[in-house]
Amino acid sequence: MKIDGTAYRTIWPAQDGWSVEIIDQTRMPHDFAVARLTDLDEAAHAIRAMLVRGAPLIGATAAYGVALAMRADPSDAALEEAGTRLLATRPTAVNLRWALERMRARLAPLPPAARAEAAYAEAAVVCDEDVAINRAIGEHGAALIREAARRKAPGEPVNVLTHCNAGWLATVDWGTALAPVYVAFEEGIRLHVWVDETRPRNQGASLTAWELNRHGVPHTVVVDNTGGHLMQHGMVDLCIVGTDRTTATGDVCNKIGTYLKALAAHDNGVPFYVALPSPTIDWGMADGVRDIPIEERDAREVTELTGVTADGRIETIRVTPAGSPAVNYGFDVTPARLVTGLVTERGVCPASAEGLAGLFPERSGV
Ligand code: MRU
Repeated sequence: MKIDGTAYRTIWPAQDGWSVEIIDQTRMPHDFAVARLTDLDEAAHAIRAMLVRGAPLIGATAAYGVALAMRADPSDAALEEAGTRLLATRPTAVNLRWALERMRARLAPLPPAARAEAAYAEAAVVCDEDVAINRAIGEHGAALIREAARRKAPGEPVNVLTHCNAGWLATVDWGTALAPVYVAFEEGIRLHVWVDETRPRNQGASLTAWELNRHGVPHTVVVDNTGGHLMQHGMVDLCIVGTDRTTATGDVCNKIGTYLKALAAHDNGVPFYVALPSPTIDWGMADGVRDIPIEERDAREVTELTGVTADGRIETIRVTPAGSPAVNYGFDVTPARLVTGLVTERGVCPASAEGLAGLFPERSGV
């Protein structure tokens, strides 16, 4: 996406030809800073500390993390070690495991001396594929927005509600849930996005709002508990969210709070769509509520708030009493029955084993 006339992706090979650059998302929206990754440790840290985040970008960063590890030591032991270390960084987004398995399958058969170059090339392909997939999701999802626009009174915008950040910052480019918004907006469809703030880390308020603001897409930030009220009053035409792992049966794991939005949408007859690239599908899993590992992060993300002061300093303050314990579940699972449709790079399908198998016949029964 273009920022001040410069086209950015969220991760790219640096000028030196071997290190990797990313946008440090922990500093946003206050600061747009580029960080450099030079080894496996830095790549693992970037994922764990969420300098990069969002399922597809986590996968892409892991792929480059393997390349950095192979540059330092292309042995079998180092390849295993890189996979183990990177896989342990975050548990929920299955794109991480997908990218590591893909890198291993590509590199393990090669002689060690050939691995570093092949790893950089494969990581670049992972990134390019992600961009193409997300653009296709954008085209398929925009048809849903177009359809909603036909039902609106002339001049009335289509109101889309989204949760967390599944925009271009969560992927290599374009985003998943926001790709349809960008495509529809470029087409000239009048739309407006309700942006859930997405406590505790505020990916909606800080990242989605930043993206939409930069791209001129009309939007309004709301606190997480507002969605039900908006839907009861006819102020949401459709919800589109991303996902960190979707089972082969269509259960959707996404940022904590997504399930409550799906319940509210169901109760109010609002279509609830989930946009996902196929590497986010866990083909070996059938029961998302029971089996998807839910990340628990530091409770201080709940007990504290970080923001920028009037004079531009980034500050963290405590918002709970010192003695009150807190717990921080990062994700929840929305059962397939609450999902109107899955928007993939191959089209839109019902959230069911049959729906997914119809679009990805080569994977059904895996
Ligand atoms: O904890 P995060 O910020 O990595 O969580 C991100 C999300 O939950 C996104 O909605 C999801 O990864 C889809 S991103 C295209």
